[in-house]
Amino acid sequence: MKNRSLISITDYNKDEYIRILELAAEFEKNPIQNILADHVVATLFFEPSTRTRLSFESAASRLGAKVIGFADANISSTTKGESLKDTILTVSNYSDIIVMRHPREGSARFASEVSPVPIINAGDGGNQHPTQCLLDLYSIKKTQGKLDGLNVAFVGDLKYGRTVHSNVMALCNFDTTFHLVSPLELKLPSYVKMHIKDRNLKYHQYTDLNEVIPIADIIYMTRIQRERFSDPIEYEKVKNAYILSANMLNGCRENMRVLHPLPRVNEITEDVDSTKYAYYFQQALNGVYVRQALLAAILGVK
Ligand code: CP
Repeated sequence: MKNRSLISITDYNKDEYIRILELAAEFEKNPIQNILADHVVATLFFEPSTRTRLSFESAASRLGAKVIGFADANISSTTKGESLKDTILTVSNYSDIIVMRHPREGSARFASEVSPVPIINAGDGGNQHPTQCLLDLYSIKKTQGKLDGLNVAFVGDLKYGRTVHSNVMALCNFDTTFHLVSPLELKLPSYVKMHIKDRNLKYHQYTDLNEVIPIADIIYMTRIQRERFSDPIEYEKVKNAYILSANMLNGCRENMRVLHPLPRVNEITEDVDSTKYAYYFQQALNGVYVRQALLAAILGVK
């Protein structure tokens, strides 16, 4: 992984996912290590973020790295018309690795093609979110004790949800049965389903969330991605399609855990938070350890 960009989850193989999860477990046991004291990490966020940016910055800080960057492109020279290429070439002079989020699909791949330092894709439009995916795998492994033989339900915006795209592709490396719950307008794109078919794995599609609750080991809820809709009327039609509440969890498997990449809007009611099934805030914490693992592996110190 040394010096390699991470743009799509398919850039890494199964062995590399396992390696990152093992490293993350080491960092969970021992999160403060001064192993990146000579390094500068740049975080360039052209699109809003709470968890991804701050957990990367927390991960870097706990490993002794310096962090530079911006949380809002409106305070960068992008507003003066600077191209993404020029921004990347400039910031690569100041840093050893660049973590970038951008609203345009393909922007992270483009950045990796022009950058002399590795790029980590922190989300490019509705395409990919590979670091979220790795922390989701870590969370699934922690809660279920395994990654094989699981029934995983993805619920909500499967069309624009980049975390879902990355997760489905990664879980195709394991013996997963997929349960895909969405409005008809927001079904998982065919190019993502092709990964499931290529591995001869099973998937089932639903519009009713209640159908998957008794059979799922993981229920992965997602937000309807308002910012990806070109027509606000279309968003209004589906925005409340799925709302998971505590009373709906009667009859779920004891081992079942609810994940959500967050932020949530209204798709999980707060009464779920106090049930043993809620795992989304621990999931966000796991992001620090997984991002420590990624920074250490790509910068070649682990
Ligand atoms: N999960 C996630 O990407 O959250 P943020 O948008 O807050 O970074």
